[in-house]
Amino acid sequence: MSIIAENWKTNPLMRDEARALFDLNAELAENAKSAEIIICAPFVFLEGLAQKPRPHNLKIGAQNCFWEEKGAYTGEISPFMLKNLGCEYVILGHSERREFLKEIDEMINKKIAVALHAGLKVIFCVGEKERDENGNYLSFLSGQIKEGLLGASLEDLKNIIVAYEPVWAISANASARSDTVEDLAKTVVFIKKVLADIFYETAQDIKIIYGGSVSKENFKNFLGVPEISGLLIGSASLNPEEIKEILCSI
Ligand code: PGA
Repeated sequence: MSIIAENWKTNPLMRDEARALFDLNAELAENAKSAEIIICAPFVFLEGLAQKPRPHNLKIGAQNCFWEEKGAYTGEISPFMLKNLGCEYVILGHSERREFLKEIDEMINKKIAVALHAGLKVIFCVGEKERDENGNYLSFLSGQIKEGLLGASLEDLKNIIVAYEPVWAISANASARSDTVEDLAKTVVFIKKVLADIFYETAQDIKIIYGGSVSKENFKNFLGVPEISGLLIGSASLNPEEIKEILCSI
């Protein structure tokens, strides 16, 4: 079962466009039974989308939530609110929030804990900003994973998907280039090792997905990488032609 998570980011601008894109996914999901498709839409569309009929393999996700259950936190959204309106997933730790909203590992760690407590499944994003020849990016990556998962149990891991998204590969960056299959295969082994160190277990069942300039041209290559459970797709998920081609050949 491949996971295809769609990160719509701050798009589209109109509710009707969001509904149309969702309907297309619902139609395609009917024939893509070997995939779990997760639509991570902006908050304002979630309730409406959650009320629409959809096949069982089409799930709804948010792109963020707050680290407290409820209270005086103007403008924030509780993971319990998300769960109560029919959301199953939440993306946490996306590099754009780390960069533009100054989210640090400690905040992401608190968000993960409360999102799990609310009964949401977490798509936990990690990824280095750049590569260096000395391999320092690996300790950066392991730091993000360790800090983000501080206090999490092996049981929690069942409800966490690790999304490896190197920042340099995300299409919003002018010089973005997708990762190579060979490199991704190595990084996945590294991530598994870090998880095994944290949990003193072979983190066998943990799901790792890849994101960064995934398109209809390259998605099959990434899905073929051993131990990769799926993809987190940004800009291509907003393009009906791209998403059609991807979901029709899963
Ligand atoms: P992209 O975005 O597919 O447009 O590179 C992925 C993401 O940021 O989640």
